[in-house]
Amino acid sequence: MLNTPVLVRSPKLSSIEPSGSFCSSIANGHIMLNKPVLVRSPKSSSIEPNRTHIIVSLPPPVTDTVASSQFDKCDTPGRFVIIANFFSVCADKKAKMWLFGVLIAFASILALVLLRKRFNYWRKNGVPSTSPWTILGDLWPTFVKGRIVPFVYNDICKAFPNEKYVGFYDLLSPNLMVRDPELIGTIMVKDFAHFQDRMTVQKRTSRLDYHLITLCGEQWKSVRTKIVPTFSANKLKSMIPMMEYCAQILDSHLREKALAGESFDAKETSARFTLDVIGCCMFGLHFNSLDDPDSEYRNIGKIIIDPGIKGMILQVLRFTWPKLLEYFNISELPTPLLPFFTKLLKQSEEFRKHESTKRNDMMQLFLDIRDQEEQNNVTDDSGISFNDNVILSNIFLFYVAGFETTAATISFCLYELALNPEVQSKLRQEVRTVLKANGGELTYDTLKRLKYLDMVISETLRKYPPAPFINRVCTEAYKLPGSSFTLEPGTRVTLVPYSIHHDEQFYPNPKKFDPERFTPENIEARPPFTYLPFGDGPRMCIASRFAKIEMRLILTRLVSKYEFTPGPKTEIPIQLRSRIFQIIPKNGIHLQVKLLEENL
Ligand code: HEM
Repeated sequence: MLNTPVLVRSPKLSSIEPSGSFCSSIANGHIMLNKPVLVRSPKSSSIEPNRTHIIVSLPPPVTDTVASSQFDKCDTPGRFVIIANFFSVCADKKAKMWLFGVLIAFASILALVLLRKRFNYWRKNGVPSTSPWTILGDLWPTFVKGRIVPFVYNDICKAFPNEKYVGFYDLLSPNLMVRDPELIGTIMVKDFAHFQDRMTVQKRTSRLDYHLITLCGEQWKSVRTKIVPTFSANKLKSMIPMMEYCAQILDSHLREKALAGESFDAKETSARFTLDVIGCCMFGLHFNSLDDPDSEYRNIGKIIIDPGIKGMILQVLRFTWPKLLEYFNISELPTPLLPFFTKLLKQSEEFRKHESTKRNDMMQLFLDIRDQEEQNNVTDDSGISFNDNVILSNIFLFYVAGFETTAATISFCLYELALNPEVQSKLRQEVRTVLKANGGELTYDTLKRLKYLDMVISETLRKYPPAPFINRVCTEAYKLPGSSFTLEPGTRVTLVPYSIHHDEQFYPNPKKFDPERFTPENIEARPPFTYLPFGDGPRMCIASRFAKIEMRLILTRLVSKYEFTPGPKTEIPIQLRSRIFQIIPKNGIHLQVKLLEENL
């Protein structure tokens, strides 16, 4: 049906040639069209000569009536023009604008109604909740003002100080933020079976998608069980000499800076150190990023941490709207990663073939599991075998999770030590006493004896948790305590260590750096699940012991030899990068370093 107005001018109806082809009836001053028409007007006073007027978009058969009043206006007998162009009829500019406005208003009202409906999910289920009004949901401050995601989550937590949980929206997706430590414990540990997965894409979009963070259910359990032995006490002990080797390289760099009186960027230096440690301890390779800042290994690390605008958008989508990436089969991972990790795996396999003794690192463990499964033709009940995809994905994960988390903690710790000289002196006293008692040697057991160092690291992880929030997905229906509402499988749940660590109830004056919060008595005085830098329960950080040993070792070596102070480039307070998920300094952490006299 032609529903645009049709204006017929000067219709000497008999001259329509061939009239039958588009006029099915002409009667009572009405003309009935039955198909699209292309008509030329040879001459006319009121319309441009030879202009073609086209009736478009008229799916045949086209029928419409033309009001007889319009016939009366005909002024050029013997000629006719059919103008079916909507805009020609609404020639008046004002009318056009008005119609456009009506359309926009209509679309806006429709969008608002749909958004209201979407953002009513928690309220209609009796759960206290936020009420955003744009498609950005509660993340609008991140997109519009650049506020980092953990701060936005903290704002939400603070807005509901008396609630155990709060419903909110990541873009359009309903998400339950759990505030109450007891309920957090229930979710992470006691009722883990209901919340064992993280939010992830179900359809894998890359060969790097088969790692512990993304795997679900039985597949995750199977892979985690096989990987856990990487971090046994014996394996960790055997890694200490490799960590010491990297610490010596860092030491010689710092010595140069100290003797030259230059400042150094603790963030960049720590990142290069922790990357080299991962290279040695996990892959048996010298990444050499401390000596060569432009090494391929360091550059890949930078791409992972700073994937650019496109990467950020894809990461946000992965986190907020994974189904979209799944539908279009798009991976959020930057393109250079897969070839890099494929090469890393091949290189490691190749040089191991020519070695007489077997290595004792993570890569060897992975290769052994794969080879054993292949030889014995093992098929895992969970449906995932330890094949090359699983190896590639997990070496990628260990690379990502392994260097930035520890590097951030080491550098924030040095920053706080520089700003708190009394804490630094007390720590130096402890590490020197313990080193002296052990002839300068650092062993697994010596490192465990450094109690004040542990308190200092714990306080750094409280103030600057590298994983400021943790997500889970409800995997089995779960009735929320104190409510008649049952969480459906698939509902997202978010726990926010950053917010708990900055809650006045548990940590008075939370901005203050105070390691005394972690004396055994003070820890005892706090409720359980109020300190979560490594998460908790069966899915907690698999490498927490490795990370603690590495951080203790390097901080012992540094603090015993050097003094750290703020310099002209030190930012107080530190500026943070915007629009991201973590707490990352924007301009690095620049400190002055002095070699202590005893070591000259
Ligand atoms: C200061 C250092 C680190 C911190 C604060 C940290 C924190 C975390 C957190 C909060 C989680 C999520 C836990 C949960 O969901 O309950 C996690 C998971 C994980 N972390 Fe760490 N991490 C650190 C270092 C490392 C290192 C050095 C590695 C590897 C070498 C690593 C590998 C992993 C892996 C593989 C997972 C996933 C575990 C799973 O889902 O089974 N992390 N980490």
